[in-house]
Amino acid sequence: MTQDADKTTHFGFETVPEHEKAGRVQGVFNSVASKYDIMNDVMSMGIHRVWKEAMMDWLAPRPGQKLLDVAGGTGDVSFKFLGRAGHGHATVLDLTEPMLVEGRKRAEADSLTGSLDWVVGDAMALPFPENTFDVYTISFGIRNVTRPQEALNEAYRVLRPGGRLMVLEFSQLPNPAMQKAYDLYSFNVIPRMGQAIAGDRDSYQYLVESIRNFPDQETFLSMVRAAGFGQAKYRNLTMGIAALHSGWKL
Ligand SMILES: C[S@@+](CC[C@H](N)C(=O)[O-])C[C@H]1O[C@@H](n2cnc3c(N)ncnc32)[C@H](O)[C@@H]1O
Repeated sequence: MTQDADKTTHFGFETVPEHEKAGRVQGVFNSVASKYDIMNDVMSMGIHRVWKEAMMDWLAPRPGQKLLDVAGGTGDVSFKFLGRAGHGHATVLDLTEPMLVEGRKRAEADSLTGSLDWVVGDAMALPFPENTFDVYTISFGIRNVTRPQEALNEAYRVLRPGGRLMVLEFSQLPNPAMQKAYDLYSFNVIPRMGQAIAGDRDSYQYLVESIRNFPDQETFLSMVRAAGFGQAKYRNLTMGIAALHSGWKL
């Protein structure tokens, strides 16, 4: 967990000192929190819901399971998980408190507060003992983490033996022509929508740049394996615009 003062990383297409990234990411999500859910629906034309259902299909939640949903934001994945499991418990952890505040409002509206905890924390230093959770999810979160490998190592630590990791993240389209068309849409349309709907072009510019910078499916698969996960596999969603990576703590 050492932090070298000279090390740099990406913040979108900018190169920034590692120690600045988390604060910049928090700035983005502080600024979008109140509009996050509506923007997600508009920008993805509702497809993020389909991807999250695909995540649940592969995960197949079971009654009584204990989920840790890291970078859980407004709680989408946890709500779906609890709905599918019937009963269980979900801990939503996120770096940005205003995102959790929005999620808690939704939980209150759905009378789900008893099955949920909301914790402010960092994916790279989880405030839980080892072998605690049955399932670890991170959805559209890991590309924002300064050192994703450390987040995966932490996932492995807090899962109990037999526990399951599942990561939903934007990925790379294997077909170059399609990638070009997708880039045209994302770089031209999404920041403008961010400006028009949320009055915040810069946050959505960061969003599309961070998507473009994230490792491709095979590279990320090797990172999942490097953290210790067995039976690591991935599935593309919508031709690779997003991907699900799964692994087990065996
Ligand atoms: C795009 S949102 C995803 C929210 C939710 N999981 C979803 O799928 O709708 C990304 C979230 O990651 C959180 N995040 C970024 N870096 C983090 C870190 N190092 N540890 C925990 N959460 C982090 C942000 O605060 C933000 O709420």
